[in-house]
Amino acid sequence: MQTDAVVFDAYGTLFDVRSVQQETEQRFPGHGDAITGTWRRKQLEYTWLRSLMNRYKPFSGVTRDALVYAIKSRGLAPEESQIDDLMSAYLRLTAFPEARQALEQLAGRQRAILTNGDLPLIEPAVKAAGLNDVLDAILTVDTIRIYKPNPQAYALVTEHLGVDAQRVLFVSSNPFDVVGATQFGFRVAWIKRAGGQMDELDAKPAHTVETLTELLSLVD
Ligand code: LAC
Repeated sequence: MQTDAVVFDAYGTLFDVRSVQQETEQRFPGHGDAITGTWRRKQLEYTWLRSLMNRYKPFSGVTRDALVYAIKSRGLAPEESQIDDLMSAYLRLTAFPEARQALEQLAGRQRAILTNGDLPLIEPAVKAAGLNDVLDAILTVDTIRIYKPNPQAYALVTEHLGVDAQRVLFVSSNPFDVVGATQFGFRVAWIKRAGGQMDELDAKPAHTVETLTELLSLVD
């Protein structure tokens, strides 16, 4: 089946959420690794909890709340300026080294991001990483106020790009996202970053790759 669009998750897939670790360590010596890990875990948990509770808050707010939790979990009392600084670091997350080349290789099909991130968080990161010109669209769940893996989130792709679900290759490193996208009907490539383990949620990815540049062999 022909591929009309290749759609990427953002955080953990194109952008390395662990790239904030150094700046976290500078502000909280000895706690950088733990805070960074808890920050990401709680960020995701809060999106799912808020969707369940019908209490949507944009991802930038959720990310800030998760950071406060992560710092407090180490017995530390964060100052507002420290939170502001680390939130700014999130706007400059490092893209994975092969991201640009992989997106360039996929030219000729629609290339898009579908993210839980709201535009104030994701657009600066895309710009800072110099990926604007290799992406055709940034789709965010902020427009529907419910987070992935709700099916309505994946429907943004078919609605906005005007493509059939079967003709979309969806790419994510996040197992919950791989499951949600597969169940929606996309062909999914799981990018298995270090230590990744697939969830036991009744769906497995069509493909498993280790780098984004392997995607080219999966289209056409
Ligand atoms: C995203 C997060 C969930 O970009 O990775 O949607």
